[in-house]
Amino acid sequence: MTDGSRSGARIDAIAKVTGRVRYASDHGSARDLHGVLVQADAAKGRIVRLDTGAAEAQPGVRLVLTHHTIGTGVGVGTFLYDGGHFHSSFAPLSGPDVRFHGQMIALVVAETPEDARYAASLITWQIEREPALVGLADAGRDDDLEIYRLDVGDSVAGQPGTGGGGGDFRGARVERTYSTAEQLHQPLEPYATRAEWTGGRLIVESPSQWVVGEARGLAEVLGLDPSAVRVVSPVVGGAFGSRVLLLWHTVYVAEAARRLGRPVRLHVGRAQMATLGSFRAATRHSVLVEADTDGRVTGYCHQVRSQTSRSDVVPLPGTSLTSRIYDIPRQHHREWVVPRDLPTPGFMRAPLEYPAAFAFESAMDELALSLDIDPLDLRLRNLAAPGAGPAPATRHLARCLREGAQRFGWDRRNRSPGSMRDAVTEEVLGWGMAVAHYPGYRGGLTRCRITATPAGRFVVSLAAHDPGTGLASAVAVAVAEALGVSLHRVRVELGDSDLPLAPMAAGSASSGTAVAAALDAVDRLVHSCADVVRHPPDRELTADGTHVPEGYTESQVAAALDGNFQQSGAGTGADFRLSVGAHFVEVGVDVVAGRVRVRRMVGAFDVGAVLHPTALSGQLEAGMLWGAGHALMEDARLDGRAGRFLATGLTDYHVLVHADTPSVDVVVLGDRDPQGGRVGAKGAGELGVVGSSAAVTNAIHHATGHRVRDLPVRAEDVLG
Ligand code: MOS
Repeated sequence: MTDGSRSGARIDAIAKVTGRVRYASDHGSARDLHGVLVQADAAKGRIVRLDTGAAEAQPGVRLVLTHHTIGTGVGVGTFLYDGGHFHSSFAPLSGPDVRFHGQMIALVVAETPEDARYAASLITWQIEREPALVGLADAGRDDDLEIYRLDVGDSVAGQPGTGGGGGDFRGARVERTYSTAEQLHQPLEPYATRAEWTGGRLIVESPSQWVVGEARGLAEVLGLDPSAVRVVSPVVGGAFGSRVLLLWHTVYVAEAARRLGRPVRLHVGRAQMATLGSFRAATRHSVLVEADTDGRVTGYCHQVRSQTSRSDVVPLPGTSLTSRIYDIPRQHHREWVVPRDLPTPGFMRAPLEYPAAFAFESAMDELALSLDIDPLDLRLRNLAAPGAGPAPATRHLARCLREGAQRFGWDRRNRSPGSMRDAVTEEVLGWGMAVAHYPGYRGGLTRCRITATPAGRFVVSLAAHDPGTGLASAVAVAVAEALGVSLHRVRVELGDSDLPLAPMAAGSASSGTAVAAALDAVDRLVHSCADVVRHPPDRELTADGTHVPEGYTESQVAAALDGNFQQSGAGTGADFRLSVGAHFVEVGVDVVAGRVRVRRMVGAFDVGAVLHPTALSGQLEAGMLWGAGHALMEDARLDGRAGRFLATGLTDYHVLVHADTPSVDVVVLGDRDPQGGRVGAKGAGELGVVGSSAAVTNAIHHATGHRVRDLPVRAEDVLG
C-alpha cells in the first residue's frame, strides 16, 4: 500500500480494527432515558385489552407509548413506493390493529434500561386473533397482484396458460419450480436510535443508508419543517438494505423525546430486529427453458411469486435482467406479489436479481445437462449478440466467463456427476458455475463540499454513507489523486443530513456518484485557487461540486433537492450499463452425513473502472460468500401455524461464518465504462451475491446427482 496512489488503504480501517469507532449505540449522555419495545405475539387480529398500569406505576418509568397514548403528534407516514421515505405505510401504534407477529405494540421509556425492561415485562394484553396467512404454499389465488409482465416474440410451446405441450418440438426442455426461503437482515450493528430535541431542532442518531430521506420522513410525520430535523450516522455497522428507509420505532423514540423533554435512546435486540424492518421475501418460481439441438435457447418462461404485506405493495420482481443477458427470441415473464400477514418485506442485497438468478441459472444448468453440453458453453452460445440491447455488457460477460473458467481450471472438470473425489477427505467433489448480473443504476443527485484548511488539509463533506462498502476510502483516494497530495491530507465527512445532499446508499450506485461529485468540487477548488496544494490558504477555502446522473430530468433534480428518492434507472439500448460476472464453485459433499462444504470460489467480474481495489474485492468476495450462506443456511423458518419467524436471532438463524469460509478468488476486468463519464465505474456492491447460490447448487448436483431446487439445502437433499 502506498499513500496517495490508487492504493488499498481503507481510511477507516485502523479505527475499526482497534475498536475506536463509535457506533450509534455508543453515543449518549447521563440525561438519556432508555426505551424498550413490546411486540405482538399474534400474526393478525385486534388488541382488545392492553394493560400498562403496572408498568406506569414502576419507579423510573416516564412514559409508555401505545395506541392509547400516542395522541395526535404522529402523522401518517408515506411508503417509499408511494413517494415517501418509510419502510412501511403502516404505523404500528396508530390503532389496535395487529398486522404481523412481532409488530411493535408499546414503547416503554424509563430512567435506566433495567427499569424499562422490567416495566415492559409487566404489560399484559389480549389480542382477538384472526386466522393469518403467511407462507406462499397456497399462492396463486385471487388476491395475488400482478406487478410485471413481459412478452417477447411468439408464445413458448408449453408455456403456462397457453395449454398444450411441446407438439413436434425437438431439442431439450426443462420445466421446473424453484423456491427461496425468507431471509433476515443480520448486520453486525443492530438497529439503534437516539433522539434529542435541542436548539429548536430534533437530532436523531441512527445507523442509516439515507440520512436525508430519514430526516425528511421524520419532519413529515412529526409535523416539522424539514430544516428542523437532523439525522446523524457517521458510521454504520453493516446495512445491506436494512437501513435504507425510515423505520417506525425511530419515529416513536423521537416522539417520546419530544414529550419528555429529554433525550431517549433505544437499542433494539437482535431477535427483535427481525420484524421491525425489512426482510427478503420468500420466492417461488416456475421456469421453462427450451433449446434446439445445437444448444441455442429458443424459449424462456419465468413466473415468480413473492410475499408482500397487507399494508404495502413491494414490487421486487427480478426476471427483467435474466431476459436481457441472453439472446432468447421467445420470452414470457410474469411476476406477482402475494399479500400476507407479515411485516413489509424490502431491500436486501440485490433484492430483485438474487432470487430470479437462482431460479434461472439453475434451470440453465439443468438444460445444459439434458443437452449434454458443458454449462459454461451453453452460456457462451446464448449471450446477447453484438447489436442487441445489452451487447456491451455481454461482451464483457464472455470475458468474465472465460477468465473465471481459466482461473478455476474448469477444463479439468469431468462432466459426469459423482466422478470427482478428494482422496484425503473422502468428499465427493462438485464443480458448478453461474452468471452474475446487476442493473446499471446511475444513482441520484449528489453534492459535495471540499474545504482547504490553513493546515494544508482537505476536508470532503457530503451526506453520503459508508456502511462498510468503502465509499469514504474511494472518495479520499480519488480526491488525493486529483489534487496530487498524500492520502493523510484528506479527510472525509459523511452521514449527516446537514451536509451537502447525497442520495441513499443503495442500488450499488453511491460510491461512483460520490466520487464524481467530489472530483467536481476539486475542480472548482483548483479553479478558484490554482496553488491551493502548495500554498494552503490563510483561511478555510471551500468549493461546492455537483454530480447529476445521466438521464436525470429537471423534475427529478427538483424532487431530489426536496429529499425524495430519485434514482436514475437502468438504461436500455446501446448504453445498457449492466455489471456482469461469472461464478465458479467447488463443493465437497460428505454423502454419509449429508454435509456440504463450499471449498473454493472463483468470481470474475466487470464493474467498469475500479474505484478502490480493497473495498471492491471486499464487496465482491462478501457477496459470493453470502450467496453460499443463502444456499446452505439462511432461513427465517416461517411457521405457517404460528404465523411467525422461528429463527430470529443468530443462535437459530444461521449465517456463513469464518470457519465455513472457503478460499475466494476474485478477478476484476477493470476496463473503465466508456459511458460512465469521468469516473467510468459501474455498480459493484450487489453484483457478487447474484448467481452465487445457483453456482453452489449446480456444484452440488455435479457432486451428487441431486438437484436442489428449494433453498436452503438440507442434509437430506444430498444424502446417498
Ligand atoms: Mo441495497 S439492497 O440497494 O441497500
